[in-house]
Amino acid sequence: MEARESNRIAVAVIGAGLMGHGIAQVFARAGHRVAITDPDRAVREASLEHIRRNLREEDVDPTPTLGNIRLAGGLEEAVAGADLVFEAVPEKLALKQQLFAAVALHAPRHAVLASNTSVIPITRIGEQLDPDARSRLLGTHWWNPPHLIPLVEVVRTTYTDPRVFDRAVAWLQQVGKNPVKVQQDVAGFIGNRLQHALWREAISLVEAGVCDAEAIDTVVKSSFGMRLAVLGPIENADLVGLELTRDVHRVMFPELNCDKSPAKLLDRLIDAGHTGMRAGRGLRTWTPEEAENVRRTLAGHLIGMKRRG
Ligand SMILES: NC(=O)c1ccc[n+]([C@@H]2O[C@H](COP(=O)([O-])OP(=O)(O)OC[C@H]3O[C@@H](n4cnc5c(N)ncnc54)[C@H](O)[C@@H]3O)[C@@H](O)[C@H]2O)c1
Repeated sequence: MEARESNRIAVAVIGAGLMGHGIAQVFARAGHRVAITDPDRAVREASLEHIRRNLREEDVDPTPTLGNIRLAGGLEEAVAGADLVFEAVPEKLALKQQLFAAVALHAPRHAVLASNTSVIPITRIGEQLDPDARSRLLGTHWWNPPHLIPLVEVVRTTYTDPRVFDRAVAWLQQVGKNPVKVQQDVAGFIGNRLQHALWREAISLVEAGVCDAEAIDTVVKSSFGMRLAVLGPIENADLVGLELTRDVHRVMFPELNCDKSPAKLLDRLIDAGHTGMRAGRGLRTWTPEEAENVRRTLAGHLIGMKRRG
């Protein structure tokens, strides 16, 4: 996984929050030179502490990884000499558009430009760029936490140069990630479309009073959720057979929720201040200990899976 000296690249990560520091960690751990920048000085500096903690959690000496990282005071300094630039700033279209305009101006003309947007089409992010910069822009959708989840969805637009697309995939493979090519720039790409189709139905079942919110999590975690890491939905459809799959869909599809807007239940909860674990209540109720336990269980589970390969 460690890059040979001749294969070392210069990476810039713009935005050092939850996702940015993890992306930086992955490339620095693989031996690449990484510059991190963030306008919030406290976040920028804390990113090194987060990386140190992440590596210690995996029983890895953080010193060589941290030795490959430098903190840059601003965007221009971060992207100077970069071969690959990751954007991981808040999910706001105008901000991302402005940022890539600045990156295109200051990064080398060969640099691959990658957005970590969760759902915004990459074409929209690049619509104000000149043709050359637009041909070097693609999506690299990492998953949280980036240092533990193997998947990165690599998204091309109709403007993306195929060589840039392949280069990004090869770099991600080299640092130990599992990149999947997304051949059309659809909102939400693949993973979030699948995930939120499930969430829409889950919230709708709670809203309709079919079960309480806790029951949804119990059903998923103690049944098909246990299989998902080793049996994808397409494998599963082939496993049970396509005749059964079609028969099930004939009965169920007319019944499934297909609302085009977020559930009213979310509006009611948010208006009441029940915004999730941090507020002590969202769809379910959480003590601080219970919320911390969810995070710790998740990290332990993901580290265990990574160790088992
Ligand atoms: N959190 C997730 O689970 C997740 C998963 C996949 C993708 N994403 C996407 O990744 C992106 C970043 O999300 P996050 O969760 O890391 O957010 P975050 O809020 O933790 O971090 C964003 C950082 O960007 C910085 N920032 C703001 N303006 C900036 C600018 N002009 N230049 C440089 N930095 C700037 C902020 O100071 C902040 O530290 C978003 O597009 C998000 O949708 C998030």
